[in-house]
Amino acid sequence: MNIQQLKEAARIISEGGLVSFPTETVYGLGANTLNSVAVAKIFKLKERPSFDPLIVHIASVDDLKMLTNEPSEAVIRLAEKFWPGPLTLVLPKCKLVPDIVTSGLPTVGIRMPDHELALNLIKEAKCPIAAPSANKFGQLSPVSAEHVRKQLPGVDYILDGGTTTVGIESTIVSIEGNVCTLLRPGKITLDDIEKALPGTFVFNTTKPAKLVAPGLLKSHYSPNKPLYIYNRANLPLPESSGLILHNPGEVPSSDCKLIYTSKTGDQLEIAANLFSALHTMEDDPAVKQIFIEPVVEKGLGIAIMDRINKAAYKYQPSA
Ligand code: TXA
Ligand code: MG
Repeated sequence: MNIQQLKEAARIISEGGLVSFPTETVYGLGANTLNSVAVAKIFKLKERPSFDPLIVHIASVDDLKMLTNEPSEAVIRLAEKFWPGPLTLVLPKCKLVPDIVTSGLPTVGIRMPDHELALNLIKEAKCPIAAPSANKFGQLSPVSAEHVRKQLPGVDYILDGGTTTVGIESTIVSIEGNVCTLLRPGKITLDDIEKALPGTFVFNTTKPAKLVAPGLLKSHYSPNKPLYIYNRANLPLPESSGLILHNPGEVPSSDCKLIYTSKTGDQLEIAANLFSALHTMEDDPAVKQIFIEPVVEKGLGIAIMDRINKAAYKYQPSA
């Protein structure tokens, strides 16, 4: 870690600027949570609608108390078990959190990222950092500094920490009393969470209408060229196609640009390489349309298919 770069990034955050930083999931576009003007710059640079709330990143479980009133025992248990890690908890917010961060909602999404640079940036800037993924609204999430530069050249600073390891965004759950609702699937599954909570907890996978924000809608994370889910009926692929496969099994006879997210079908590897594969296809002028193989919707496969379906949604003939 380069201390000078970290100090520079922290200074920019303290002075109300925007810094893109790596987390274990994807790169974030961060500002001081407590500075509404700085947070407003995030919405502007991302071209993000003001009704889509941000996640607040903290560096210790203790920081929870600054953002939410009296976290319950269950909340503390989840935080202690899964943080630092790819789990966002949506909890009642306290007054200190500006409304712009939560888009006027009475709740705030909070997580502690499992990345040394992110944690040190929060500590050095001495404030919780509000950060969505560092992409233009609706486009592919960035998993490298290069991806951030491509979409957000106007950002004040990018802390380059190489490629992220998890590759897809955090799991988001809301906790209200003894009800836990899955708002976005991720590496930590609802099963994992269920095991960590007392038996009296009720689990929902249907999102309540009041909690639906754009990141949770059907279309999101899309490449700027058509993306279709690949099945054998798509054969032969049209000319200038890109094809993303998740294990070396079947290879179509058609001439296409081929990328494997994994050589073994390992879900962790597929998740880690998913957005990179989509970015590579997006950046290749020889590729006019992209096809992507589905994965089995089990465990982490639920989150992987969530991202694939959302990325392909707007290109479906019926959308
Ligand atoms: O892994 C991640 O979560 C990454 C890294 C940077 O931490 N961040 C991320 O942020 O994916 P973003 O803004 O792209 O997605 C966060 C989503 C929003 O689209 C919104 O739907 C949901 O979190 N969210 C945030 N606060 C919420 C709240 N109070 N209630 C319901 N949903 C909320
Ligand atoms: Mg996002």
